[in-house]
Amino acid sequence: MKVVSCRLKSKVIPKQTLKEYLIPTRYHSAFAYQNVYQKPLKTTAPAEQGATLPVQQQQYKPYTKTQLADLFPAVNFSLPWVIEFGTGTGEFLIAAAQQHPNKLFIGVDVARPCIERAIAKIASLNLKLQHENKEPRVTNLLFYNGFALDFLQADFIHFPLTEVLVNFPDPWPKKRHHKRRIISTPFITALTQALVEGGLLITVTDVAALYEYHLEIIAINRAWTALSFDKNLPAYDYYRFCSRYEQKNLAQTKQFFYTAHRLTALSKKL
Ligand SMILES: C[S@@+](CC[C@H](N)C(=O)[O-])C[C@H]1O[C@@H](n2cnc3c(N)ncnc32)[C@H](O)[C@@H]1O
Repeated sequence: MKVVSCRLKSKVIPKQTLKEYLIPTRYHSAFAYQNVYQKPLKTTAPAEQGATLPVQQQQYKPYTKTQLADLFPAVNFSLPWVIEFGTGTGEFLIAAAQQHPNKLFIGVDVARPCIERAIAKIASLNLKLQHENKEPRVTNLLFYNGFALDFLQADFIHFPLTEVLVNFPDPWPKKRHHKRRIISTPFITALTQALVEGGLLITVTDVAALYEYHLEIIAINRAWTALSFDKNLPAYDYYRFCSRYEQKNLAQTKQFFYTAHRLTALSKKL
């Protein structure tokens, strides 16, 4: 399968390791697939990716807390959920999860090779910690290989999210490609349903035009209040660590543009 921007090759990872960190993707929408890959999804999708029919037509069952607890007995799903959409190879989230054991971090990315790299990293970090007998294993980090909208609108509709992060999403500069961007009107609408009252949305990009676009798209939805991105935000602390993409750009001394928004209490009652 062609990947969006992550040109890495998949690593060979033992099935057992994948099972420990990868939430199986149940729903794989043909719509989201077509937006990114510009071709229809084959109707014979692998069983674990779910059917390709619209959610309403397939009596689709999103994840429940019990099902997740059965799949990942070591993980505490009652912690506040922090999701990074477009996590890439997971450096950012792995660092944040280690620093914040009181939160549950989930990295979502459509590119399988990126997710596999991320899982290989967290698995080897856990092995290292175990061998050195230093600190406990990192058990507050999982990954999901799928589209942002499928995560929000299908597989995880029952789970309130506390913080949502979108770091360096692909800009897709051409007008006809706008609908492929992670931050879009349907994405913001879905977040309005998915986040808890007072939940946070943080975005960062090195493309000034994309920053303007983020501000514009989020401002359309009146449920969100713009905040300044500073140390008063709980999520500010994560950004002391760099993602792989950020490290590359830092070397080129590029400017980063952050946005921060809070979901107002009123919007949840509408
Ligand atoms: C430029 S990379 C940034 C990776 C990482 N956040 C970082 O800062 O290093 C953008 C990532 O977004 C992912 N992506 C793009 N569209 C997506 C979508 N609709 N749903 C989930 N992931 C998506 C791509 O596969 C890619 O890994």
